[in-house]
Amino acid sequence: MSTIVVAIDGPSGSGKSSTSRGVADRLGLRYLDTGAQFRAITWWLLREGVDIHDPEAVAARVGEAEIESGTDPLAPTITADGEDVSVAIRSEAVNAAVSPVSAVPEVRTRLLQLQREAIGEGGIVVEGRDIGSVVAPDAQVKVYLSADPEARAVRRALEEGGSDVSATQESLLARDRIDSSRTTAPLTMAEGAVHIDTTMFTLDEVIDQVVALVEAVE
Ligand code: C5P
Repeated sequence: MSTIVVAIDGPSGSGKSSTSRGVADRLGLRYLDTGAQFRAITWWLLREGVDIHDPEAVAARVGEAEIESGTDPLAPTITADGEDVSVAIRSEAVNAAVSPVSAVPEVRTRLLQLQREAIGEGGIVVEGRDIGSVVAPDAQVKVYLSADPEARAVRRALEEGGSDVSATQESLLARDRIDSSRTTAPLTMAEGAVHIDTTMFTLDEVIDQVVALVEAVE
């Protein structure tokens, strides 16, 4: 059993999810989508009627949410209080609320615990914003994916079933601004990370590059 940890960070729409799942599938590794965990907590807080712009209210309630994520790259699952929220966490309401919620330190502390438990002995590809810097600073492979904002918006809009590209670009850039400027665990390129600009590459080409990085250390 491989004990490798592959950390994949980058902004929204940079290709993190498809790349991470593809790499995990090719190498027989598990997969953890930490963005889905932040989205599930956000969904739960919205359902509970918590004011997500009040960090104290968010901090007071976050411990009550029961979030569970599956680690199969071909069928990732995410539940909140036992309810499958894999579709609900992609809504516009969650898109708009997730970055302010993720900036609350108590939210990050709670999820960090779940993330470290999921990583366990390794054998996993983990994607997010702070994986190489905070969650798994000892990861043997660290990758930072980026792409031009327009390319990211087109990809996201296609994933979301053809939503408006310029509105999607605005929503991604708004999230990027909050994610990069927050005090706790901001989006950043971790020390030792390999930067891949995915704008001009196909998904398979990016997967090939990451697989080659993993094979070089194993
Ligand atoms: O990756 P995804 O776009 O689904 O992530 C949604 C949001 O979750 C990000 O915009 C960010 O605010 C938050 N996030 C985070 N740290 C992570 C993963 C996601 O703050 N490791």
